[in-house]
Amino acid sequence: MASPESSRERAIDLALGLAEELFGFGSSSSTPGWVRDRVRTHLEQQAAQSGLSLNEVAKRLLQDRRAVEEIVASLRVGETRFYRDKAQWEALERQLDHLFPTDVELAVLSAGCSTGEEAYTLGMLLTAARRRFRVLGVDRSAEAIRVAREATYPREAARDIPPAWVERFCDEHNGRLRVGMLVRNSVEFEECDLVQRVPAGPYHLILFKNVLLYLAAPAGEQVARRLANELEEGGLLLPAASEVLRLRNMGLTPFRMAPAVTALRPARRFIGPFRP
Ligand SMILES: C[S@@+](CC[C@H](N)C(=O)[O-])C[C@H]1O[C@@H](n2cnc3c(N)ncnc32)[C@H](O)[C@@H]1O
Repeated sequence: MASPESSRERAIDLALGLAEELFGFGSSSSTPGWVRDRVRTHLEQQAAQSGLSLNEVAKRLLQDRRAVEEIVASLRVGETRFYRDKAQWEALERQLDHLFPTDVELAVLSAGCSTGEEAYTLGMLLTAARRRFRVLGVDRSAEAIRVAREATYPREAARDIPPAWVERFCDEHNGRLRVGMLVRNSVEFEECDLVQRVPAGPYHLILFKNVLLYLAAPAGEQVARRLANELEEGGLLLPAASEVLRLRNMGLTPFRMAPAVTALRPARRFIGPFRP
């Protein structure tokens, strides 16, 4: 007889398989631990409410598309934080004026922005660098976009932001951290499912980080290709470090920004600083 542990893992596999088949969510071979944890919690809650076993709850999903959609929706509100991947932000800050002349107004996209921390980090970086810019953050989760527009976070969210930026760009609102108007004025958010459409560019920078894991092949590759087509000449696509390999394999050319920081750009394009 199967151990409770292996039957729990099988129930999670079944739920993730359906999430992929019906909604193109992730690929089970590379599913990160937090995704499995969340699915397990969801199935356990359903089991507790219905009095069924975990396996029975998972099997019911075969006939219940809405229940699978609920799981996918809970997974798509993603984990994020301010100044995530410090080395990437530092490399961008160092190279910004070399990559893009200082008189150019930068157009930037945070594709899969979740609750806005990535878009606001960019806003803070570009304001600190005295650049003119517009940042657009898009996500398919309406709830994430609502939170992003509120721009108000738990105080602990300030933990990773450079202290000088917290001082200059954030204020306190009812005991919470709020991104100030100086940055908010140049950052907008929009609900958008990148599988359906990508926002029209051209963009100098596109952050496309930690979204691929939600998209099974070939949907993820198609989204990345469409995003790359929206890059300005000399523009860069910035993935998470773990995603560089998957994106290189689809023909994007790596551009080394720092020893452990690689950006990507379409192979056919001019490789060098942006020229207006
Ligand atoms: C883990 S978060 C990453 C947030 C941020 N980019 C970062 O790296 O911190 C992934 C986000 O991608 C969003 N997402 C997943 N599939 C998407 C799609 N098809 N279109 C738009 N956003 C999507 C999720 O809703 C989630 O908010």
